Amino acid sequence: MENRDIFSALPVSLLPWYEVNRRDLPWRKDKEPYHIWVSEIMLQQTRVEAVKGYYARFLEALPTVADLACADDELLHKLWEGLGYYSRVRNLKKAALQILERHGGVFPRTHAEVSALAGIGPYTAGAICSIAFDLPTPAVDGNVLRVVSRLTDDPTPIDRPAFRKQITENLAAVYPERAGDFTQALMELGATLCGPNRKPDCENCPCKAFCLAYHRGTAGMLPVKKAKPQRRIEEKTVFILSCDGFYAMSKRPDTGLLAGLWEFPNVPGKLNMAAAIAYVERSDIKPKEIIRQVEKKHIFTHIEWHMSGVYMEVKEQSGDYTWLSARQISDNAALPTAFRQFWEETGYV
Ligand code: ADE
Repeated sequence: MENRDIFSALPVSLLPWYEVNRRDLPWRKDKEPYHIWVSEIMLQQTRVEAVKGYYARFLEALPTVADLACADDELLHKLWEGLGYYSRVRNLKKAALQILERHGGVFPRTHAEVSALAGIGPYTAGAICSIAFDLPTPAVDGNVLRVVSRLTDDPTPIDRPAFRKQITENLAAVYPERAGDFTQALMELGATLCGPNRKPDCENCPCKAFCLAYHRGTAGMLPVKKAKPQRRIEEKTVFILSCDGFYAMSKRPDTGLLAGLWEFPNVPGKLNMAAAIAYVERSDIKPKEIIRQVEKKHIFTHIEWHMSGVYMEVKEQSGDYTWLSARQISDNAALPTAFRQFWEETGYV
């Protein structure tokens, strides 16, 4: 079977399958572009199960594009806390402002206008325009790349931009009228039967009649990916300094990793206890009691933090820090997961 015939066969096989097998997900309840947009941004790099709660809280706090455009940055960071990749939420607000300024508050309806908004690349624009407006604009993510590399038994590394471009063109040529359902059916197949990190469930697949990898027995070997560069390891000592139920905190700089979020005081390198005490004393902190030391790791895309957390009760709220109550940390301060894991050890959560 030629690749062209494989692509042409997709809508007829996938749409009826999707109708019966689609998961009941919160962002599939309507076609409001704002809702689809928020869900697609949250779903980048984050699992469906993890997104559900964030999605509901976000839309409850900010029900319209106009609410998002004038949202306070602290609130946005809190609503995003734990999802990671915080520039996504700053771009959401930037794009909401652009929708007000450029489009009078009405969500734009063409792929070109949507992809010109902050934080929206060709994948997200394709997803929004197909799901919300039924335009024939493919949304080719990792799931779709995996499905297509298996259907066509193609060993080209799926992280090659030219491969994604070719697949986007091939799919665009066969888009059916129910464009939104087709986009989601492809994603759904890639997230379920043809999912990552496990044996594909080819026997139940609606595409098995024309899947080349199934017929050649190569599905388990696909997709091929280029080797990832190694992550850089950074060691840190993190100080959880408490004084009568208040904790020393700082705001991270406005640019760079975890920009604008809260953190516990920390220094590069793993300090032994004597060096840790000497460091806090130099920062005008008077230790009263060392409570414990806990090791944690956090993995970012390119960096791994290996952290040693030193818990100390101190004599007074001194030093160049903001002292926040446990309630403020739990309810208001956006504390990224790297640091929140130390907070969880305190039992306040
Ligand atoms: N992953 C990315 N977009 C998705 C969607 N709309 N539904 C389910 N999983 C997704």
